[in-house]
Amino acid sequence: MKVIYPGSFHPPTLGHLDIIRRASTLFDEVIVAVMLNPDKHYLLTDEDRICMLRECTREIKNVRVIADEGLLADLCAREKADAILKGLRDAADYTYEAQMAEANRVLGVPETIYITSAPEYRHISSTIASDVARHGGNIALFVPEVIAESVGKAFKR
Ligand code: PNS
Repeated sequence: MKVIYPGSFHPPTLGHLDIIRRASTLFDEVIVAVMLNPDKHYLLTDEDRICMLRECTREIKNVRVIADEGLLADLCAREKADAILKGLRDAADYTYEAQMAEANRVLGVPETIYITSAPEYRHISSTIASDVARHGGNIALFVPEVIAESVGKAFKR
């Protein structure tokens, strides 16, 4: 079974990596898709985010990192993915994700599969991680060690 794990990954966090690792043991292939939004101004460039995710997942053989600018449902069709994969931290995530799952279902992707976040990562989000980085806090508590330095630098540019 092939799943697509989409996101903005601005930046990739310890929570994202935990979901990717756990998914890689459950599915034949996990495609991590950096969904690009040209209307948004990001401090991390598209290339930064793709490189960081590749760096974090280098040792996981059945993970592939790609980027796409279109509709997630179209990407799933092109990649012949069986389902979308998402992480769920709490009820607020669920409310938002259930709406997206339904939208993606009517757009042609029948299933979205969720993996619940491990308790030690539930407080982590990209928004919080980027805020910590911007203010010079210990970013290694929020993002994978191999990218901590680059994330810290990028948000202080
Ligand atoms: O990490 P994020 O910002 O919560 O990820 C949101 C993302 C990228 C998964 C979502 O915005 C998305 O799927 N964008 C692609 C465009 C699309 O298909 N929009 C309709 C989704 S229902």
